[in-house]
Amino acid sequence: MRILAIETSCDETGVAIVEDGRRIRSNVIASQAAHQATGGIVPEVAAREHLRAMDPVTQQALRDAGMQLTDIDVIAATVGPGLVGALLVGANYGRGLALAAGLPFVGVNHLEGHVYANWLYETEEVPAEPELPAIVLVVSGAHSDLVLMEAHRRFRLLGRTIDDAAGEAFDKVARLLGLGFPGGPEIERVAKDGNPDAHPLPKAWLADRYDFSFSGLKTATLRLVRSLEEQGAVPVADVAASFQKAITGALAEKVARAAAEHGVRSVMLGGGVAANLALRAEIARRTGQPLRVPPPRLCTDNGAMVGAAAFFSLRHRTEEVPSHHVRSSMPLA
Ligand code: KG4
Ligand code: ZN
Repeated sequence: MRILAIETSCDETGVAIVEDGRRIRSNVIASQAAHQATGGIVPEVAAREHLRAMDPVTQQALRDAGMQLTDIDVIAATVGPGLVGALLVGANYGRGLALAAGLPFVGVNHLEGHVYANWLYETEEVPAEPELPAIVLVVSGAHSDLVLMEAHRRFRLLGRTIDDAAGEAFDKVARLLGLGFPGGPEIERVAKDGNPDAHPLPKAWLADRYDFSFSGLKTATLRLVRSLEEQGAVPVADVAASFQKAITGALAEKVARAAAEHGVRSVMLGGGVAANLALRAEIARRTGQPLRVPPPRLCTDNGAMVGAAAFFSLRHRTEEVPSHHVRSSMPLA
């Protein structure tokens, strides 16, 4: 089954063609540069940029795969969670395309997309599927969810952030340090030259729960930067490395505890922050189970993950298959 899948929930216009939920035939991503000037995403600007990119990106995805619309079996698009104006562009475009081509349309939950990115591959060789049950950590600019995946499309939410999402914390600290947007890759880049033990920061430990809290860490980092400023120049690399150590430590510790408590067969990561190599290393160090993480390009928003999730949502249809209406919030579990 060939699915043409569309992702427009935030600031990436993604269109991909995925075969049988796993094999990527093409995966085109247009990132919106317009947000760098504002250091954050303006929803109206995001929607307008999606509108501009939607058709050329779709044509490119078909060309890259060497296919035409007549080679496609299903059209899928993210219908939530995300920015409503942005979601509407991709979902309406996808529905229009499906109608014109006489194909079925499937609405996809963006968070399911981040999970199912772990099923994708681009090589000739077919990698084994992740083993279930699994603990999944979905960490993005808007979400930090710790989930028990019992079976395909059966998710149980164990914990989530009670304030900022992990990616949001990376973005805010990056801005504080005068780094670019999005902040996660910037922090990771400068942290390579820093000492992670230079400035111990609180881990924000909600000790007996699986929930996360990152606003305390963010405030502590702000206070640290202000006091360093008073003493002279801020050692940006050391602060970035110390912050990265604190946040990845908090995430990894709960992932490891949940994996042990639920006796799972694998651990999976998803979402933009999962691209962070320090986070992957820390989780790999603390867990005994096989760790699956998509390549960085498939951790951040893309169409291929939507194609994978669409395939498994058709195969394991449940009551909660997302409707055609876009929604800003939509739980995974
Ligand atoms: O999944 P995603 O592309 O979009 C959302 O659904 O939100 O995630 C974007 C988030 C941003 O906050 C970005 O700073 C963060 O993922 N991110 C990273 C890295 N790459 C992207 N955070 C830490 N380290 C990275 N290498
Ligand atoms: Zn995302």
